[in-house]
Amino acid sequence: MVETIQWIDDRVVMIDQTRLPLEEKYVTCGTYEEVAEAIRAMVIRGAPAIGVAAAMGVALGVLHADEEGMDAQFGAICDTLAKTRPTAVNLFWAIDRMRRLYERLRGKPIGEIRRWLKEEARLVREEDIAICRAIGHNGAPLVPDGRTVLTHCNAGALATAGYGTALGVIRAAVESGKQVDVFADETRPFLQGARLTVWELQQDGIATTLITDNMAGHFLKSGRIGCVVVGADRIAANGDVANKIGTYAVAVLARENGVPFYVAAPCSTLDLTLASGDQIPIEQRAASEVTHIFGQQVAPAGTAVENPAFDVTPARYVTAIITEQGVARAPYEESLRGLRNEASVVR
Ligand code: MRU
Repeated sequence: MVETIQWIDDRVVMIDQTRLPLEEKYVTCGTYEEVAEAIRAMVIRGAPAIGVAAAMGVALGVLHADEEGMDAQFGAICDTLAKTRPTAVNLFWAIDRMRRLYERLRGKPIGEIRRWLKEEARLVREEDIAICRAIGHNGAPLVPDGRTVLTHCNAGALATAGYGTALGVIRAAVESGKQVDVFADETRPFLQGARLTVWELQQDGIATTLITDNMAGHFLKSGRIGCVVVGADRIAANGDVANKIGTYAVAVLARENGVPFYVAAPCSTLDLTLASGDQIPIEQRAASEVTHIFGQQVAPAGTAVENPAFDVTPARYVTAIITEQGVARAPYEESLRGLRNEASVVR
């Protein structure tokens, strides 16, 4: 399976997701500023992968910071990384985890602080792979045998440290012996479905059919889709789910056609400080992502554009939320709180 992000010789190495599938190139970041820029430019993307990158970014920043005035530099490193993308809560979760450790280490020799932060970033990555496997294990029984699964965006190995969340559920279903094929929404404007999900599943030999976003309703109505599985960038306490723009439309169409709509995500994607999805900040990205495709202009110059990168699916459309701790169902206020408590005990 592809290595999304690694710590090699005190550098952060990531596969460049802006170039896939046409080129398999790796980007090496030697500074935390370079990691921040890679997150902002979506060289690395997907909520859990962004979290791993942020943890490694903090460790890299501290590695190169002066011993003198370390607290102020640590604050600046965290602020720079936190300002890259606003929606995926895993980014803030990872920075907080590094900050809490740094605070516990205050007063220790600088070499020790650096070593422990590096080790913590490595752990965040390792744990993410194990968490994805557990999500897959918990979700596989929900996938109907012999049917097609529809997914949106890329919630796969590329969006995590490995294995994936939504694609992890599909992988685990296949590994358990189920006959499953996948319909991948292309996911305009950034084309994560066409470029990344199809590429990733092809590597695994999982039969995948690419459709444009506006075909999803047609296929959900046709009876060919057994269930929908998507990832999440942030899940509020009431079970509202922020995920890639277009997810909401898929969820409504799934409900209309009686198709189960599952969300697969680690507990680090839960933001129980937010009562509902209305409070989730939605990233607005550049107009050029909409007016251009692979650098080619497709709309008239000066076209007015809106480009929200995410939307919020109300909890009432979500059949279940699959996490590493178990499967949560409505009422989500209760079921998610139960999972989160479990998660904090584990950490
Ligand atoms: O803008 P992106 O590509 O970072 O958005 C990714 C998604 O919306 C994913 O579905 C989500 O982060 C879950 S990834 C396991």
